[in-house]
Amino acid sequence: MKITFAESAKADIIAFLVDEDGDLPKAAAGLDESAGGLLSEAMQGSRFNGKKDQQAFIVLPKGSEARRVVLIGAGKADKRDARVLEGLGANLFKSHATSGFKSLAIHATSADDAARMALGAKLASYRFDTYFTKLKDDQKPSLESVTFIVADVPGAEAAFVPLNAGGEGTKLARDLVNMPPNDLYPASFAEKLRELSQYGVQVEVLGEEQLAKLGMNSMLGVGQGSVKESQLGIMKWMGGAEGEDPVILIGKGVCFDTGGISLKPGPGMEDMRGDMGGAAAVTGTIRALAERKAKVNVIGLVGLVENMPDGDAIRPGDILKSASGQTIEVQNTDAEGRLVLCDVLWYAQEHFKPKAMVDLATLTGAIVISLGHHHAGLFTESDDLANELSKAGQTEGERVWRLPLGPEYDSLLKSKFADMRNIGGRAAGSITAAQFLKRFVKEGVKWAHLDIAGVAWVEGEKAAFDVSWASGFGPRLLDRWIADNYEN
Ligand code: BES
Ligand code: MN
Ligand code: ZN
Repeated sequence: MKITFAESAKADIIAFLVDEDGDLPKAAAGLDESAGGLLSEAMQGSRFNGKKDQQAFIVLPKGSEARRVVLIGAGKADKRDARVLEGLGANLFKSHATSGFKSLAIHATSADDAARMALGAKLASYRFDTYFTKLKDDQKPSLESVTFIVADVPGAEAAFVPLNAGGEGTKLARDLVNMPPNDLYPASFAEKLRELSQYGVQVEVLGEEQLAKLGMNSMLGVGQGSVKESQLGIMKWMGGAEGEDPVILIGKGVCFDTGGISLKPGPGMEDMRGDMGGAAAVTGTIRALAERKAKVNVIGLVGLVENMPDGDAIRPGDILKSASGQTIEVQNTDAEGRLVLCDVLWYAQEHFKPKAMVDLATLTGAIVISLGHHHAGLFTESDDLANELSKAGQTEGERVWRLPLGPEYDSLLKSKFADMRNIGGRAAGSITAAQFLKRFVKEGVKWAHLDIAGVAWVEGEKAAFDVSWASGFGPRLLDRWIADNYEN
């Protein structure tokens, strides 16, 4: 679907935003007159009063400049924030996507509004339908283009550049999370990373032999029961000054999580195709940075494994020696994400000097209980980092909520046999998981952990542009965070 901005446009469908309890917008006056007052009549004759997302649909007479007019309720002007505008763009697109019409033009009142609506339409146009073989033609979208009519065209185009980049990242993250685990496993995920080299990303992939040399036995332990080879993916976007320290993003990439020997219950296990949501978020962010040619150095690291039960799988009771040298008693093989992340965190600090380090992981079911599906859990000791991430999340609508860390939680990780165990007991499951990771962060490193288990895919009510199972959470938040804090 093509998105453009123009001062005027011809299209099959023309849409106007109407304020709640407002009049027909001035931009529609000419069309209303040439159509003999059909537009104003539609506003009076129905219950249309401009409430958000209400639509009135008008068939124009033959020979008119368009075939249809849509009036869409835009709510109260003072409530029209970025989320509302994204929603309007998304709903306009979705309402007419399979209408049979090919082009839609939407009148916008400002450059920024146009760009936000465009992002909504772009995200709503996402489809993950390649696995359907019986789609009928009328189930496929007919809309090929959406044009935003706006006075300040260069302004709207400029405002759309970063939003569009975030949108590309979101779509890639959605694709990765949506893909079934028979097609997306560590090596095929690594292939997807390699595809980013076409945008100027440097990609390197380490296999099990190299990971063993690096002593990453904790991560390797998780993949040990799988016939799929574990991989560490390294993506470098070096758009900043040469020699400038990078921001480092780390993602949990468990391509499928059965729980291992501590096997998960059957019902719902298929959702664990999305247990690489952290890795998808990191990959999508690198894609976004490359799309807008960000002037910053960012390294993305993704730990790609599959957690399977097997004769050779790790057992509860096994003790693993992590790359940091610290030993871990595995009490539950289903607490595998932290076993992957701890070695990747260590790798990041041994090989680079992170300005800041953020990891993302679908780490605990407990975070879904705490925060539901509308905030990711944020854990950090840095108030600065907490503020930066919270603000970026508010701006882009990918919100985070800070939870505490503390020594009392850390002591729940004590083990009788090793430096630590990989679970903390029933209480505060998301916090003890974060405490576990913290043991692998060196003194003085600015680090945050985002538990995205509740937001990588969303049950129940969701945003209008959140159109597939996978939300694609992460790239918009991280790209905004980097743009606002680490780029000059
Ligand atoms: N991948 C799961 C966490 C998860 C659960 C993500 C639900 C998305 C939705 C993780 O590996 C896991 O199994 N965590 C365990 C930890 C427990 C054994 C300490 C959990 O949350 O039950
Ligand atoms: Mn698990
Ligand atoms: Zn998991």
